[in-house]
Amino acid sequence: MRAVDVIARKRDGHALTRDEIVWFIDAYTRGDLPDYQASALLMAIFLRGMSREETVNLTVAMAQSGDVLDLSAEIGYSVDKHSSGGVGDKTSLVVLPLVAACGVPVAKMSGRGLGFSGGTLDKLEAIAGYNVHLTDSEFRRLARENGLVLSGQSGELAPADGKLYALRDVTATVPCMPLIASSIMSKKIAAGANGIVLDVKLGRGAFMTTLEDARTLAQIMVDIGVDAGRDMIAVLSDMNQPLGEAVGNALEMAEALACMNGGGPADFREHCLQVSAYMLQLAGRGEKWVDMEDARRELTEKLDSGAALAKFRQLVAAQGGDVRMVDDPSLLPQARLVETYTAAQSGYVAQVAAEEIGIASSELGAGREKKSDSVDLAVGLNVPVKVGDRVEAGAVLATIYANDEAKLAACRARLGRAFTFSDQPVPRLPLFYDTLYGKR
Ligand code: URA
Repeated sequence: MRAVDVIARKRDGHALTRDEIVWFIDAYTRGDLPDYQASALLMAIFLRGMSREETVNLTVAMAQSGDVLDLSAEIGYSVDKHSSGGVGDKTSLVVLPLVAACGVPVAKMSGRGLGFSGGTLDKLEAIAGYNVHLTDSEFRRLARENGLVLSGQSGELAPADGKLYALRDVTATVPCMPLIASSIMSKKIAAGANGIVLDVKLGRGAFMTTLEDARTLAQIMVDIGVDAGRDMIAVLSDMNQPLGEAVGNALEMAEALACMNGGGPADFREHCLQVSAYMLQLAGRGEKWVDMEDARRELTEKLDSGAALAKFRQLVAAQGGDVRMVDDPSLLPQARLVETYTAAQSGYVAQVAAEEIGIASSELGAGREKKSDSVDLAVGLNVPVKVGDRVEAGAVLATIYANDEAKLAACRARLGRAFTFSDQPVPRLPLFYDTLYGKR
C-alpha cells in the first residue's frame, strides 16, 4: 500500500477501507511515514469527513496501536467515566470512590490539565505523596484488592493518538468531529473498560459550545463504543459556568472532600450523583440498578454515610498519599494571599463565564499553557454565585487564592470580564441537557 494513494482517496471523497486505515495508522505509529503525509490525511479527513464505519475503524486502529488493557482477570466487568473537560470539574474525585463503595470496581487512568481545563492527576497531587505513577502490576493489584485505583497511564495507551494529536494541534485539524471522537474513544477503549459513561460538556467553558455540536459528538462516540463492543451512556451537561464553586487543584480537592462528607455545593453533588447513577446502571447490566431511583438511593446513602469518603481514604493510603489531608483538608496546600472580589452593583447574575474563570485560575498558576509547565497546587478561585442568583452590591462574587501579587491583580482584571448582571430575573442554567444511550 502507498500512503499517497490513501491520502488521494480521502481527498477525493471516498470512504477508506479498514485495511487502509489500519495500515496507515500502524505505519505512522512505527515511524515509517513522515508527519507531512499524516498531516495531509488529517486535512483530507477534516474536509471530507468520515462515515461511522471509518470512524470506528480509525478508533480501533488507534486503540490497538499500543497496549490494550484487559482487566477481566482482576475485576470482571469494569466501568469508566470520561469528561470532555471543563472548569471546576472535579467529578472523578467523588464519583469513582462513590461507585466503588457500591461494590462496582473502578480502575481508571486519568490525565493532567491543559489550557483552562483542569486534570484529575493534578488535583490528586494536592495530597502530599499521592503516587500517580503506578506500574502495570501495581495498577492491577490495587484494582483486584481494593476495587479502586486511580493513576496516570501505565504502559503506552493509544500512542497513535498522542502523535496525531500533536500534529492536529499545529495543522488546524483539531475541531473535527470524527477526529475528536476517535481520539477520545481510542484512549477509553485501550484503557479496557466494559462500560463507559461520557460526560460531554457544552457551553462557553467547553470544547463544544452548542447543544447541537455536543449532541453530534456524543452520538458519534456512543456509536463508536457500541460498535467496539462497549456499553455506553453519554450525558450532555452544562459548562457555561463553573461546576461547583472551587477552581484550582487543592481547592477542588477540598470541595470534593466536603461533598464526600455530605456537604459541598448542591450543583456539584447533584452532578456526581447523576453520573455515578449512570455508571451503576451500566454495571448492573439489566439486573441491578435498572431503575435510576434505586441507583440514586444507594449512592445517596453511600455519600452521606461516609462510605464513599472511606473508600477515597483507602485509595489515598494505597497510593502513598498523606491521609491526614483527607481527614483534615486545612492541611492541603494553602495560598499566601487570599482576597475577595465583590459585586460593584446589585442585580441578577446573568453570566459567570466559565472560560474567563478557568483562564483566571490558570493565570494564577493553577493550570498549564504547555504540557511541560508545572502547576501551583494552592492557587485558584472560589466562585459561590450561579447564573440566576440575586446579589446585592458588595456581595462576594469570588475569593482569589494567590501566591503572587502581580498575578492576583491580573486575576481581578480578568474577573471583571467574567460576571454580568441584569435588572430582570435570569433563568437558572440546567445541569444536564440530555442523555444518549448506546444499544448493542
Ligand atoms: N480531547 C482528546 O483527547 N482529543 C481530542 O481530539 C479533543 C479533546
